[in-house]
Amino acid sequence: MTTGKTKALVTGGTGALGSEVGRVLREAGFEVHVTALDADMASSFAEMPENRGLTVHVADLFDFDRTKMLMDEVGAPLGALVATLGGFLGGPLSALTEADVDRLIALNLTNAVHTLRHAYPLLKAHPDGARVVLVSARGAAAGGPGAALYSAAKAGIANLALSLSQEWLEDGITVNAILPSTMDTPANRRDMPDADFSRWPTTREVADVVAFLVSDAARIISGGVVPVYGKG
Ligand SMILES: NC(=O)c1ccc[n+]([C@@H]2O[C@H](COP(=O)([O-])OP(=O)(O)OC[C@H]3O[C@@H](n4cnc5c(N)ncnc54)[C@H](OP(=O)(O)O)[C@@H]3O)[C@@H](O)[C@H]2O)c1
Repeated sequence: MTTGKTKALVTGGTGALGSEVGRVLREAGFEVHVTALDADMASSFAEMPENRGLTVHVADLFDFDRTKMLMDEVGAPLGALVATLGGFLGGPLSALTEADVDRLIALNLTNAVHTLRHAYPLLKAHPDGARVVLVSARGAAAGGPGAALYSAAKAGIANLALSLSQEWLEDGITVNAILPSTMDTPANRRDMPDADFSRWPTTREVADVVAFLVSDAARIISGGVVPVYGKG
């Protein structure tokens, strides 16, 4: 699809936050590309009326060759990249299996690294500069028992924003990270039925912050590690 609009790519784009970000960026006038892990998810997502106009790519972003191919499908220039792909797995560090460790790091750090590597030429090709927003988590700043490895991987994401904002400065690419606390998602309501949901930031509120960070108004903000905690 080529619309003449600025292209935005949202990884994890069928998830709770990613889908909201995709819709908010579409409202902001972007040509939005989102990733889905499998074809079934892609077609059910694309059929929902609220997702009309979002281009869905089926791509397992643990597969680095597929990640590279995804960039060829989206095509340069890319004006915005929002890397939302990630996921929580709690429990004491000593209770994690080797498979848990590999999956947590792949979900919350490695896929973003490869996405950034392969997206770089597309971002650099944007004549007006490009915007990257990485999704970290509150635990990156605070740590916390029962989420040590998740928090460490998310701290890696925040640190990528600090380094890449400098490494890509002369390319006109801004790189910021957001740190959501627990968001109001169906999965969190299911997992924590006794919590006060009204204290959690909504995915729309967090997506609005992302929309600001990719907007022209935020062109001088880079290397930001932005708390989005609501009352959480
Ligand atoms: N939810 C929270 O309260 C919270 C708080 C702080 C930070 N965060 C961070 O915010 C981000 C979004 O969270 P969320 O709650 O919106 O997550 P989510 O709903 O689980 O969305 C994650 C998406 O990534 C997809 N995905 C998983 N593995 C993939 C792979 N290998 N290749 C391609 N796609 C893959 C998932 O697809 P499937 O659904 O098909 O597996 C899902 O659509 C994450 O980075 C998370 O760590 C979340």
